[in-house]
Amino acid sequence: MSPERVGVIGGGLMGSGIAEVFARAGSEVVVHEIDAGAAEAAQARIESSLAKAVERGKLEAPARDQALAKIAVSTDLSNQADRELVIEAATEKETLKLQIFADLDGIVTNPDAILASNTSSIPITRLASVTRRPDHVVGLHFFNPVPVMTLVELVTTVKTAPEVSARARTYAEGVGKTVIESRDRAGFIVNMLLVPYLLGAIKMLEAGFATREDIDAGMRLGLNHPMGPLELSDFVGLDTMKQIADVLFDEFKDPMYASPPLLTRLVEAGLLGRKTGRGFYEYG
Ligand code: CAA
Ligand code: NAD
Repeated sequence: MSPERVGVIGGGLMGSGIAEVFARAGSEVVVHEIDAGAAEAAQARIESSLAKAVERGKLEAPARDQALAKIAVSTDLSNQADRELVIEAATEKETLKLQIFADLDGIVTNPDAILASNTSSIPITRLASVTRRPDHVVGLHFFNPVPVMTLVELVTTVKTAPEVSARARTYAEGVGKTVIESRDRAGFIVNMLLVPYLLGAIKMLEAGFATREDIDAGMRLGLNHPMGPLELSDFVGLDTMKQIADVLFDEFKDPMYASPPLLTRLVEAGLLGRKTGRGFYEYG
């Protein structure tokens, strides 16, 4: 079962993919972005991913056109008022997400609507606490690239209503995802395991232990991972990686989660990985 009306806040790497999978499943989707430039970029991302799916034989051209017709990109948050499910996928920054949840709480009129966050790390209880409907707030953590990766982590808090958790699971399964459930701890299941590994690879590179190519080849060829840890960090986005590390460090106070200076410097230099054309590697 898919909701008829879905909202997605943020049309970046993740939000554009989330919008795509819901539209492909038949939902009508409104993506909210901050300004006209970001809205245009979100629309282009969705079109390019759908074109790729057609190119690779995963989607017929008429189905691409139907999906595109179901997605609108807007810069007016009040267009989220009638949504049944809103998935927040804006930049991984707690203050920003708190503001978005407070705003959505005031705007979304449907009392049954589920407000979800795609955050990689921020505890959902914190986001729910700025709303008057914490029983209707969950984490729905999709993986990158959303049209390809089949996992969704469902994160519930002590206040989530069982009906809401069940419906959120049904919605994620309705777009073809497999759902695993996590308690509400920073990083949930996957990033709690993945992020120390990625940070370990960055520390290894920083220490001059091995080249970036050999670190990545080690994990690709030795463990059959589709990408090595430095390639994967560039793919996730180094700003997002650093924000996740900071949230994990704040929650657990374990040095394992501390952002290595090399990661911090790359972010400060605006070298955020694939999305800016340079991170640990350069992209054409
Ligand atoms: N729509 C539909 N299908 C698509 C597609 C699209 N837009 N793009 C690619 N595909 C399909 C391809 O057709 C192919 O399917 P088959 O195997 O059935 O033929 C499959 O996806 C893989 O495609 P390719 O082999 O052509 O590889 P690619 O280079 O285009 O994509 C990749 C590679 C899928 C990204 C792969 O490198 C990969 O899996 N990398 C690791 C990704 C990963 O670990 N993601 C998790 C990041 S962490 C995260 O998300 C959590 C967080 O909070 C940070
Ligand atoms: P991104 O930088 O690609 O996109 C973020 C988007 O949010 C941008 O387009 C930006 O314009 C928009 N935005 C910022 N403030 C906004 C606001 N107030 N209202 C609406 N839009 C706003 O980031 P991303 O990689 O798509 O990450 C988005 C979320 O998904 C983060 O919480 C991140 O942790 C999570 N996530 C990321 C990955 C990944 O691999 N990158 C995987 C899973 C989850």
